[in-house]
Amino acid sequence: MKRFLALMLSAAVCLSLAACGGTNASTSDSGSSGESQSAEATPTGEKLKVGVCIYKFDDAFMTTYRNALQSMLEEKGYEVTVVDGNNDQAKQTEQINTFITQGMDALIINPVMTSAADSIIAAVKQADIPTVIINREPTAEQMAAYEKLVYVGCDAAQSGTFQGELILETENKGDINGDGKVSYIMIQGDPENIDAKLRTEYSVKALTDAGMTVEQLDLQRGDWDRNKGQEIAQNDLAKFGDQIEVVFCNNDDMAIGALQAIQAAGRKVNEDIYLVGVDALDAALNEVVAGNMTGTVLNDANGQATQAVASMEELLGGKTFAEGEQSIYVDYVKVTPENAQDYIK
Ligand code: GAL
Repeated sequence: MKRFLALMLSAAVCLSLAACGGTNASTSDSGSSGESQSAEATPTGEKLKVGVCIYKFDDAFMTTYRNALQSMLEEKGYEVTVVDGNNDQAKQTEQINTFITQGMDALIINPVMTSAADSIIAAVKQADIPTVIINREPTAEQMAAYEKLVYVGCDAAQSGTFQGELILETENKGDINGDGKVSYIMIQGDPENIDAKLRTEYSVKALTDAGMTVEQLDLQRGDWDRNKGQEIAQNDLAKFGDQIEVVFCNNDDMAIGALQAIQAAGRKVNEDIYLVGVDALDAALNEVVAGNMTGTVLNDANGQATQAVASMEELLGGKTFAEGEQSIYVDYVKVTPENAQDYIK
């Protein structure tokens, strides 16, 4: 009912404007033409309720993202509930069902498992709740099942390519010992996750596309976790020693763990080994500035949170999305010692 009233008000605002579009009560950064809905649009002044599901709170990047999202929504006047899925899909499914029962006006969901996308989409469709999926991208076909659903995230392949380019931009293009090949270890996130898959693939592809020969010494899953990154790097350094020229990490938290192992082994980043991550966490940016990481890639938490809120408001305003238009990407940015300072918060 509240949503119906909100829509009626949105229509009334439209009619009162000479040109419906452009000047609405709320802002939208997506550049698309749909109406968007503001938080306090119900005639009764009742706040619109937004439920946010995060795959797990104990994730460095998702913590930055979650905090940005929560403060943006609250500043706009929404009543926000954020829940921790504890990396457990069954638990998150229950949380989604609870949000549905509580009559949330919109949901923002960071799925635990991408493989659960079909059932998540079926549940929100059945309940007719506008939904923004973030961070873990379903397929276009899966999203096409529900026109009041969009995905906001980044093109993971781009981040992988930027990691490879960071290595290509070094003086020896990653071939420190000059034996004609770049020998690397890959510390992967959760392999079920498309970000992990594509970063793993495209970081190396950037090297081979540039004509470099590569040798993978090891690939291990580190599940985005600093301690696991440290353990994997420590074991590999003990096993492969100086053969390792490049440490690719699918994210910064694992790279910071790897850096601890690199330093403990007496190796020196940018001299006898290269190290790259993704996310541009403050801790990683400081290491890039200090020369202890070769580079990272900005995973723009603020930009994605801004876009997720804008897309949610479009959905609340009645906009629907056709198949093929349901993924909205925010760009990654390559981060080197030259620009790292610009991103430290
Ligand atoms: C990635 C990010 C990782 C981790 C993951 C969770 O985009 O780079 O650090 O947060 O999302 O799905």
